[in-house]
Amino acid sequence: MRIFIDSANIEEIKDINAMGFLAGVTTNPSLVAKEKRDYREVIREICAIVEGPISAEVIAQDYTGMMQEAEMLAGIHPNVVIKIAMTEDGLKVIRDLRQKGIKTNATLIFSATQALLAARAGASYVSPFLGRVDDTANDGLILLEDIMTIFNQFTLDTEVIAASIRHPVHVLQAARIGSHIATVPYKIIKQMIKHPLTDAGIQKFLQDWQEAFQ
Ligand code: E4P
Repeated sequence: MRIFIDSANIEEIKDINAMGFLAGVTTNPSLVAKEKRDYREVIREICAIVEGPISAEVIAQDYTGMMQEAEMLAGIHPNVVIKIAMTEDGLKVIRDLRQKGIKTNATLIFSATQALLAARAGASYVSPFLGRVDDTANDGLILLEDIMTIFNQFTLDTEVIAASIRHPVHVLQAARIGSHIATVPYKIIKQMIKHPLTDAGIQKFLQDWQEAFQ
């Protein structure tokens, strides 16, 4: 399973990218709004930092508006993937962008049938939102499992991005289920790196070394 960061913050992205495992970035309108910066400039900077797919979401929700924004965003860099919400117009946009050779990420996926339709329309990625499913007292991991079963059964070339990750166990379970990608917030990536026994082990090695040689 590849690891993306779910962030529009340049410092966070630079910090994680320097560690060598980062394979892509996802943003959404809420994440970009937090930065209070020019949208295009943020996406351009991210593309210059990370080598891999960079998801940028359209704000418009009508067919024409989505197509216009998608073409503008796709023009920023060849690695830009257009994030489209799973709606009727969204599916038409996904199909037409595919015909133009522009990659899409179908977002706000909350059912396996939505994921199947988006894949059949031509989405390069689908993003089931695990945490937001959990918030409704349902199990986001069951959704992910259903999507993986269907996609593997019919060997669809659409990749699945486990999104709305709320804790490291979501990442662990997504990997067990066979998700192609998990997009993980900065804070959770940091939690995944750290282990108290690693810290204690370093301390003990250092202490033993100092006692013997200093
Ligand atoms: C995914 O692409 C979304 O940007 C993100 O994972 C949403 O997460 P949230 O539910 O924590 O806002």
